[in-house]
Amino acid sequence: MVQSWTPTSWRGKPIQQVPVYPDAKALESAEGTLRQYPPLVFAGEARSLKASLGRVAKGEAFLLQGGDCAEAFGEFHANTIRDTFKVLLQMAVVLTFGAACPVVKVGRMAGQFAKPRSAPTEVIGGKELPSYRGDIINAIEFEDGARAPDPQRMVRAYNQSAATLNLLRAFAQGGFADLHKVHQWNLQFVAGSPQGARYEQLSTRIDETLAFMAACGLTSETVAQLRETDFYTSHEALLLPYEEALTRVDSLTGQWYDCSAHMLWIGDRTRQPDGAHVEFLRGVKNPIGMKVGPSLKPDELIRLIDALNPENEPGRLTLISRMGAEKVESGLPPLLRAVKREGRAVVWSCDPMHGNTVKSSSGYKTRPFERILSEVRGFFAAHAAEGTYAGGVHVEMTGKDVTECTGGAQAISDATLADRYHTYCDPRLNGAQALELAFLVAEQLKAEREARGVPQKVAAVAGE
Ligand code: PEP
Ligand code: CO
Repeated sequence: MVQSWTPTSWRGKPIQQVPVYPDAKALESAEGTLRQYPPLVFAGEARSLKASLGRVAKGEAFLLQGGDCAEAFGEFHANTIRDTFKVLLQMAVVLTFGAACPVVKVGRMAGQFAKPRSAPTEVIGGKELPSYRGDIINAIEFEDGARAPDPQRMVRAYNQSAATLNLLRAFAQGGFADLHKVHQWNLQFVAGSPQGARYEQLSTRIDETLAFMAACGLTSETVAQLRETDFYTSHEALLLPYEEALTRVDSLTGQWYDCSAHMLWIGDRTRQPDGAHVEFLRGVKNPIGMKVGPSLKPDELIRLIDALNPENEPGRLTLISRMGAEKVESGLPPLLRAVKREGRAVVWSCDPMHGNTVKSSSGYKTRPFERILSEVRGFFAAHAAEGTYAGGVHVEMTGKDVTECTGGAQAISDATLADRYHTYCDPRLNGAQALELAFLVAEQLKAEREARGVPQKVAAVAGE
């Protein structure tokens, strides 16, 4: 029998990766503050995203999800938000135009603050302190006071998320995302790279298409899809006191939605079928994601799908595979087969980042770009072999000119990682690498769609 669910029922389940707040009263007070604050998203928006993801599940669209590994209080700036948004728009255009496929755009933005860690403490020079768990929980500085969890950080994260979302909405709806601005999304450092030049060529073709459409009477004034875009937010639902406080009953349907973001996902370290994170997310009606790493067995995956999407609703559940380049071709097919055999409607997306993290000889945590591309190719190959749909990518990226992942057309080496290594957690693709990845994905997607006999027509340029 299915147990009843409430926004607090997760509290009775075993939980992983939680901070231990030293002051219970202070925690209650921060939760109370958040409960009074307005929701960040409207349930109707989450339903629209679910409907779009339902089209992805059917093979009619593609999911692009990306942004920081961890947002940070110290990195909060309009230019950072704008530049990451620009690169996501560029990637979406490459996919939409390159593969003639509508793209559903979801940022790892406006709430991506809490991080699971491989160890609860960190030791430096003989000194042991709690691990950094993201700015919503504690501070990154390796100092005594800094690492203590502080619940007021949840309130600050909420405010930063609200301001970030406000700007993203303005960009998406206010003219910045108009397809006529396609050239202006090419950041200066990206424009100088080979893929920046390739993007310029593609933009010129889009200009020609837009001029043709204008001659037919289809302009930004007459067609909303040319003028604006749908952009959604997402983050890992890790810090459950925060998520619970922002979970509200939708006045239109009477159902519960986690209104901290449109889409929430469960990380690879917190997907225990009887654990608190699965319990929490099974009850909210948002579209949700779950990371699928190499340790997940097919029968356990089906059990998790039973819990998270009992009604088999297309668009409800996105499985985000993060196997690593070496394991994807052996690890993914048994899972694809099980899901197909059981007739489960899911979106399969590829996170080529988290299974490919290595320590460089210079001591930095990095990800070789070649391995990232290789996992994407392996992901598409596995789907082609099993007759399932490779429906999306999930990447850690930024619009900044960072040097965090080695390789790519700029040939970032172990020795140059130190130049601009700014991440608060995992290494991200910079704008040029993200664009290079988008071109590869577009080629794979185009081939897949041609093999299925989907007409490759330019009219899909307007996208979702
Ligand atoms: C992440 O997406 O930042 C993350 C921690 O991923 P995973 O749960 O797949 O390790
Ligand atoms: Co990460």
